[in-house]
Amino acid sequence: MSFPLRHPFPFASVVLTGGSSGIGKSFIEHIERLNPDVPICNLSRRSPEGFSAELKRRQVTVDLSEVASRATAIEQVLEFLETVGLTGPILLINNAGFGRYGEFHRSDAAAEREIIEVNLNAVIDLTAGLMPVLLERGGTVMNVASVTAFQPTPFIATYGATKAFLLHWGYALRHELRGTAVRVMTVCPGSTQTSFHDRAGMQVRGPTSRLAQTPDQVAAAALVALARERAHVVTGWSNKFMTKLATFLPWGLATRLSGAILSHLRRA
Ligand SMILES: NC(=O)c1ccc[n+]([C@@H]2O[C@H](COP(=O)([O-])OP(=O)(O)OC[C@H]3O[C@@H](n4cnc5c(N)ncnc54)[C@H](OP(=O)(O)O)[C@@H]3O)[C@@H](O)[C@H]2O)c1
Repeated sequence: MSFPLRHPFPFASVVLTGGSSGIGKSFIEHIERLNPDVPICNLSRRSPEGFSAELKRRQVTVDLSEVASRATAIEQVLEFLETVGLTGPILLINNAGFGRYGEFHRSDAAAEREIIEVNLNAVIDLTAGLMPVLLERGGTVMNVASVTAFQPTPFIATYGATKAFLLHWGYALRHELRGTAVRVMTVCPGSTQTSFHDRAGMQVRGPTSRLAQTPDQVAAAALVALARERAHVVTGWSNKFMTKLATFLPWGLATRLSGAILSHLRRA
């Protein structure tokens, strides 16, 4: 899919997490098409395939669930912005994330906390670490949440709640940052054809599988919403419909409905 924007890419540097696969990899591909020269710094445990060792591409290899490793990684990102992505607005894409399928009472606290470390604490640390340079140079913080942000999500309870946090947090920060050159936006994909479900121990089937978007579609929709300065975007028409419906339902009913859908994703 070719990128549908007519305007030039307005960012001078890009920092993203989770560019090694799925939606993050598609973000890199789209951005490289928009501006092949833009410096890109990626944070993940594996390097994105074909991410060359040239000056304008920097791989920061980090396990974002580890607090100390995150701190070192943020120093490396700041060094990258000072030496390679010297001036102009910055696009920070907090994309890395994962979930685990199963009941909370059968899980252990350390496993649940690891989801919060990657999906939330890493986002907070990276956004806070880059905030001085974002305020100085301007830019956008794009957080990748999910349609799970719109209702409680039995069987992926902690994961879903991290995404609800990102949606609320993004709106609140955006409000606080009015009057500065920094914007915040939230991307809410639905089921997307990546390694996410496999890693989470879920099996995608039925309508969830048929309606799944490609990571390419998700990244393209996010970048269009970015250009339109949207506060949030739900990608795909079926996801827009489902999230709108969820906001009208009483919480108990919305939870039962999402529980029924998610119960079908249990791996056989
Ligand atoms: N796929 C879906 O159906 C779906 C739906 C809604 C929202 N999302 C969200 O979209 C985002 C991207 O997920 P995806 O679907 O593209 O899945 P994915 O293909 O599994 O990609 C996840 C990315 O996050 C990185 N990551 C995970 N844990 C990490 C850790 N501990 N440290 C550093 N990096 C880590 C992975 O890199 P390494 O493995 O190399 O570390 C990978 O690049 C996530 O936030 C996810 O919650 C996905």
